[in-house]
Amino acid sequence: MTRIFSGVKPTGHLTLGNHLGAIRGWAEVDQHRADSVFCVVDLHALTVDHDPARVRRLSRQAATLLLASGIDPERSVLFVQSHVDEHARLSYLLECVASDGEMRRMIQYKEKAPVEQARGGSVRLSLLTYPVLMAADILAYGADEVPVGEDQTQHVELTRDLAVRFNQRYGQTFTVPRATRPEVAARVMDLQDPTSKMGKSHESGAGIVYLLDEPDAVRKKIMRAVTDSGSEVVYDRENRPGVSNLLEILAASEGGDPEDLSGAYESYGALKKDTADAVVELLRPVRERHRELVRDSSYVEEVLRAGAERAREMSRPTVDAAYRAIGLLPPA
Ligand code: TYM
Repeated sequence: MTRIFSGVKPTGHLTLGNHLGAIRGWAEVDQHRADSVFCVVDLHALTVDHDPARVRRLSRQAATLLLASGIDPERSVLFVQSHVDEHARLSYLLECVASDGEMRRMIQYKEKAPVEQARGGSVRLSLLTYPVLMAADILAYGADEVPVGEDQTQHVELTRDLAVRFNQRYGQTFTVPRATRPEVAARVMDLQDPTSKMGKSHESGAGIVYLLDEPDAVRKKIMRAVTDSGSEVVYDRENRPGVSNLLEILAASEGGDPEDLSGAYESYGALKKDTADAVVELLRPVRERHRELVRDSSYVEEVLRAGAERAREMSRPTVDAAYRAIGLLPPA
């Protein structure tokens, strides 16, 4: 059976981008067709300036939101990365097959390092090695597929390169995974700046729809979305990024094709209204289920405990095999 691994980073409240680009597909499609493992990657949240209490809170919230979005612990393994030592264990070995030049070429590093520098003057070494830890996440589970939004494509490519290189040097150890992404909304853009990605750690939240936003807030943000000059509703991501983003969000939320939908609208106002309605309806059950789960925190804790136990069993054999293959003396 196909094995799937994917994760979310608890660096901010989860967004509509996370939902449409990844989480919804995990819940609605992936976990029904494959052996699925989903992870709240809290170690990755330590790669930039962080507040310990906030990371802890956001980790629990992310796990709760994954359940609220329909991840079913009877079908999928759901756990927190730091509860399973194999990730950090394997990451070190992969650092020994990766090069620093490779790390410095990663787009996300090139984007984030200057921001961190401007903020505090120094860049954590873990920000540079971030993609190696991500590769360890994926390879430890022998994942065949990694369902992610478009922004993670380069990281999954690197994971493939590291897997192939390790296998060539030290013998067949890892499955070489491939990224998969949704047909629509693989890159949801910021509503206030449709040339940049809707990201959880953006400075201002005005262009970001969060999964836990109240319906009124969702409507306001979408009705105030920046649109393009001109008034015709056309789907053209390059030249009409604002309108195209709304069309993608609408198409992904209620099903359909953004190009086809564009023909149904004569004004930006009507498109925004329908998009707002569709997103409110999409998020309503997630918000409601989240509210119930918050009241039942022992359930979430139990899911994460059992998930970590299963994740350890799944990952240990591969990580142990990698330790042997690379030349480390097995403990007696
Ligand atoms: P993260 O936490 O930034 O995002 C989680 C998932 O949401 C997708 N995503 C988006 N998709 C469409 N439009 C957007 N605006 C948008 N923003 C985010 C991301 O592509 C991702 O699929 N490095 C990863 C976390 C990670 C991981 C892994 C993922 C660590 N280890 C192993 C897969 C496998 C990240 O920062 O995701």
